[in-house]
Amino acid sequence: MPKSKASSRPPKSKPANGKLTEAQIAVHWKEEQYFYPTKEFKAQANLVDPAFVKKFSEKNFPKCFNVYANLLSWDKKWKKTLDTSKPPFWKWFVGGKLNASYNCVDRHLAEHKNKAAFIFVPEPENEPAQVLTYRELYIRVNETAAMLRDFCGLKAGDRVTIHMPMIPELPITMLACARLGVVHSVVFGGFSGEACGLRAADSGSRILIYADGYYRNGKWIDHKGNADVAIETAKKEGQRIDKVLVWRRYPGHTRTESPMVTGRDYIVEEVLRDYRGKIVEPVSLDAEAPLFLMYTSGTTGKPKGCQHRTGGYLAYAAGTSKFYQDLHPSDVYWCMADIGWITGHSYIVYGPLALAATSVLYEGVPQFPDAARPWRIAERLGVNIFHTSPTAIRMLRKAGADEPKKYNYSFKHMTTVGEPIEPEVWRWYYEVVGKNKAAIVDTWWQTETGGFLITTKPALDRMKPGSAGPAALGIFPVIWDENNKEVKAGQHAAGNICIRNPWPGIMQTIWGNPDRFVQQYYAKYCKNPKSKKWQDWPYFAGDGAMLSADGYYRILGRVDDVINVAGHRLGTKEIESACLSVPEIAEAAVVPVVDEIKGRVPEVYISIKPGMTPNKQVIDKVISTIETMIGKIARPKKIHVVPDMPKTRSGKIMRRVLAAISNRMHTGDITTLANPDIVEQIRELVQGRDATPLADGPEDIRLFGEQG
Ligand code: WT7
Repeated sequence: MPKSKASSRPPKSKPANGKLTEAQIAVHWKEEQYFYPTKEFKAQANLVDPAFVKKFSEKNFPKCFNVYANLLSWDKKWKKTLDTSKPPFWKWFVGGKLNASYNCVDRHLAEHKNKAAFIFVPEPENEPAQVLTYRELYIRVNETAAMLRDFCGLKAGDRVTIHMPMIPELPITMLACARLGVVHSVVFGGFSGEACGLRAADSGSRILIYADGYYRNGKWIDHKGNADVAIETAKKEGQRIDKVLVWRRYPGHTRTESPMVTGRDYIVEEVLRDYRGKIVEPVSLDAEAPLFLMYTSGTTGKPKGCQHRTGGYLAYAAGTSKFYQDLHPSDVYWCMADIGWITGHSYIVYGPLALAATSVLYEGVPQFPDAARPWRIAERLGVNIFHTSPTAIRMLRKAGADEPKKYNYSFKHMTTVGEPIEPEVWRWYYEVVGKNKAAIVDTWWQTETGGFLITTKPALDRMKPGSAGPAALGIFPVIWDENNKEVKAGQHAAGNICIRNPWPGIMQTIWGNPDRFVQQYYAKYCKNPKSKKWQDWPYFAGDGAMLSADGYYRILGRVDDVINVAGHRLGTKEIESACLSVPEIAEAAVVPVVDEIKGRVPEVYISIKPGMTPNKQVIDKVISTIETMIGKIARPKKIHVVPDMPKTRSGKIMRRVLAAISNRMHTGDITTLANPDIVEQIRELVQGRDATPLADGPEDIRLFGEQG
């Protein structure tokens, strides 16, 4: 292994206008030592041929992506790979027809009907794992599709909101929707009923699909009650919900305190009696037919529904699963994410199933009942591909650094995704969890992108802890600063990472808001709004990144008002508007604070309306309001009650200054504020009188774009 090479530290540039731009943030990391895939891994890998990689060079774009589309079975072959006539609303595999459920289920029956499609691992350890073969999955998806069509009256193009935990009935329901062309919108089970209701209303769903409850961290969570709240919320938004279908976690009995409303709520098990053995022909859909919506947080208060297409998305999920997850039908693959996030859609359900793999579905939290649970599951099921987030890795390392050694499992491949991983944490993952042999991919992508954009090719590229790697096949990134100047490799500076070209996994639009789609992702670096050439429409990802001399990208985190908590996106504006709905609150500002385990957590600053008292009840009300409006994942680490917010002369709250205080960093230049004196007051309040900021402030702690 080559020795590590420390990079020279560039001189610090002084920001001219009091603001740091991306490119001015000098990056101080030292270069890490490389790691290499083993001979054993290479010998069996799907992607080993450098000639294959060449096929994805820029001159072969967009045709190169036919290779991904050819992994699928099409009812009708596409006529054109990419249509750019209405930028940035790209069309992929134009004229092609297919069905995602057919591709993930039916077509595997001939060869794999008795193979496990899913292995469901309940959280309670005394409950045995349940195997769902491809044949069984086929039967259940068909019966469910029959119910959705004939009992709910759903047809292609209708939307359905699914608010469910990690039980097999969740992917069964998704695939049943896909069979009919019904657009599913899965809301993460941990979100509140209100959050679900808002999303259901935005998507125009009249059917909600729930589960009665589930186990999480040793506790039974009664989930169905959220449906009642969701319906009320949707109603306020002008959306009527006709039916709630409730799956039972335990067949034979319903476990919820929430009453079933006659004529509205139905137990799926009971309804399904009428559909036993029913077969529903998969509906042949246009490649561009929407497959699902996935709501995600953005810069405004309202979450946006990322709309993904059938053909391009499935092709991209399948291709990246094959070449980067190295999935073979014989593998046992476990992605520990939740299906309620994009990772679960692409890399628990659609990608693995398109390739006839076996995908493990775990109900609970990794540390239940102890931090060795994942390794027991891996040993027991023979998991050989493992996929999780830096937050989970940090947590498992902290709670049981030596536990993996005690278990006799063997991973050939591991993934880290969702947040930057510290090199030290990466090395523990490699050495201890991966037992010094598993190839690691650090995959950078987003809800919007459908699949991986930056990752190493596991058998071909060396690994570098903390850096995601080079671009994925057929992806051509570029880093630009705020003045449209390219930040080049080895420049030791950061900028905004963009993708110059379209790719099949990119979302189609924001549901119901095409203007926001253009504004959010394409307006910033569009070279010519009239142009019909894709070259003029780079995709702006909203992340800061830097490029090393070796061509590896290091992702630094969001440049917008999005906080990435434990790999999950929260909009600061969403939390702030929850705070402001508490009558006593005058102003609210939410900032990201570095957390040892979760990467970032939100801290909340509030000021109270004149004449009202800032007591504990008010603070408790703020917390409970955040939890009801968004969910427990948005629970702030701390709430600071301040006399006033630091503001610019135009009255804008300077979140950057508050974030610096919370993170014990220098507050930077505050002389231009309307009320500079408040800063010291707030600092004392938060840090105590004698605290001193960190000498220089770690510059890898990025405070959303430094835009204030
Ligand atoms: C944001 C997207 C990707 C699926 C899960 C999250 C951050 C994602 C990495 C990585 C550093 C990463 C980015 C991105 N992110 N992967 N490998 N290294 N940061 O999807 O909820 O849409 O969040 O997660 O900031 O923009 P998401």
